[in-house]
Order: sequence, then structure tokens, then C-alpha cells
Amino acid sequence: MEPLLIAANWKMYMTTREVREFFRQWGNDPPPPGREVVFFPPFPLLPLVRDLMPKGSALGAQNSHEAHEGAFTGEVSCRLLRDVGCSYVLVGHSERRHLFGESEERLAGKFRAALARGLRPILCVGETLAQRQEGHTLDVVLGQLAAGLGEEPPVKGFDLAYEPVWAIGTGQVARSEDAESVHEALCAWLRGRGAGTDARILYGGSVKPGNAAELLAQPSVHGLLVGGASLDPLSFRAILTAGA
Ligand code: PGA
Repeated sequence: MEPLLIAANWKMYMTTREVREFFRQWGNDPPPPGREVVFFPPFPLLPLVRDLMPKGSALGAQNSHEAHEGAFTGEVSCRLLRDVGCSYVLVGHSERRHLFGESEERLAGKFRAALARGLRPILCVGETLAQRQEGHTLDVVLGQLAAGLGEEPPVKGFDLAYEPVWAIGTGQVARSEDAESVHEALCAWLRGRGAGTDARILYGGSVKPGNAAELLAQPSVHGLLVGGASLDPLSFRAILTAGA
């Protein structure tokens, strides 16, 4: 059984001073048994987080470029991310898909490149409110899954995050049984293809200390991707230990 993965997605928040303060308060307590913690800070903060986070924590990047290196102003390669100590990378976060127009094709390229460079990608999928209301949730998330994993879905080395777009940053968390049914469909899709045998499926979207334990109690919820509530060490610690 893989450990549950509790991820902090700091988006475009935090400064060097705030990171120092975060880890001063965070302390050195290890995660509870069976849980793993990973921090996704903005790019320039990666080395600082690497140096300040407690041993045994993991470091990840919020985005990457698919090329090995090259004339791509403003982009960051998986090779460099590995070099500064990342072991994870997010691929296809809904803000990348919807605000920056990243296509399925591009995301599939990023996913492959991350695997090839020894990073563990977390492919993010999720439906909009309109898609949910029209009853298209499973079509959308399974379509994003199939597109992101490509023709030959890898047997291992990646994780997934289900993040309903309407739940991200809105305070409106998915009901745990709704999350569970989507997670179960994602698990079944992987099982049916012999893919992602070690994949965890994280839930993301308005996770807070008060709803984390119930979400983690669902059999197909194998972790959490936490935005706003991960910026405060006390609330992120409460999420990391919820129900443990
Ligand atoms: P939120 O963000 O926890 O602030 O809703 C989650 C995410 O976007 O990963």
C-alpha cells in the first residue's frame, strides 16, 4: 500500500520571508505513519523549500516544459527541476488548462517528459460546474485521463488528482461520496488497462482541516491536493494529520 500523499500547492503565493516563517512554525515532526507530504512552491522558492523542509518531505514543481532544454523563454525543464531536488511535478492543473490554455496534446507531452526525466507527474483532471450539471463529469475526467496518459498508459510512476473546477478556491468542497464515485471510476479505468499500478488518486478543491478526515476516509481517496489551506502551517498540519 502506497502512503497517502498530502500535497501543498502554493500557487503564486509566498515569499522567501514567508517560507522561512512557515517552516519555523511547521517544525520537524514527521508525517503520521502511512502519510507522505510534498510541497509545490513557486519556481524561485524551490531551493529554499528544499533546504528548510524536514527530512523525508518531498519537493515538487507546479509546471514544467516538455523539452530537454532550448530557447523557450520563461519555461523550466524537468531536467532542471530534478537538478534542484524535485521529485514531483503537477501536470494539467485546472488553472493551467483554463487560464493558460494548455491543450491535451501539450499536457500529454509534459506528462511523458516528466516520466522520462525521472519526475513523478501528478496528472490533474476535473470538470467544470456546467459539465457536472449536464451530467458529463465522468466523460470529462476519463477523457482528460486518457488524453494525458497517451496511447500506452504507463504501468507505474505517476499519480492523479481529481479537482472539480467548481471546488477550487471556492470554499465549495465536493461531497465525499461524489468525490469517491469519480475516484472509483478513475481507479477502474486504470485497473482495466493495467496502468498506474502504484498510482494514488488525490482529491483537491477547498480541502480544509474540517473536511480532510472525511475525504481521506473514502476508500479510493489516496491523498489530498491542498491550495489555500496549505499556506498556513497550522491548518496544513491539521490536514496532514486528519483522521490519522
Ligand atoms: P484550493 O486549491 O484548496 O485553494 O481550493 C486546490 C488546488 O487548486 O490545487
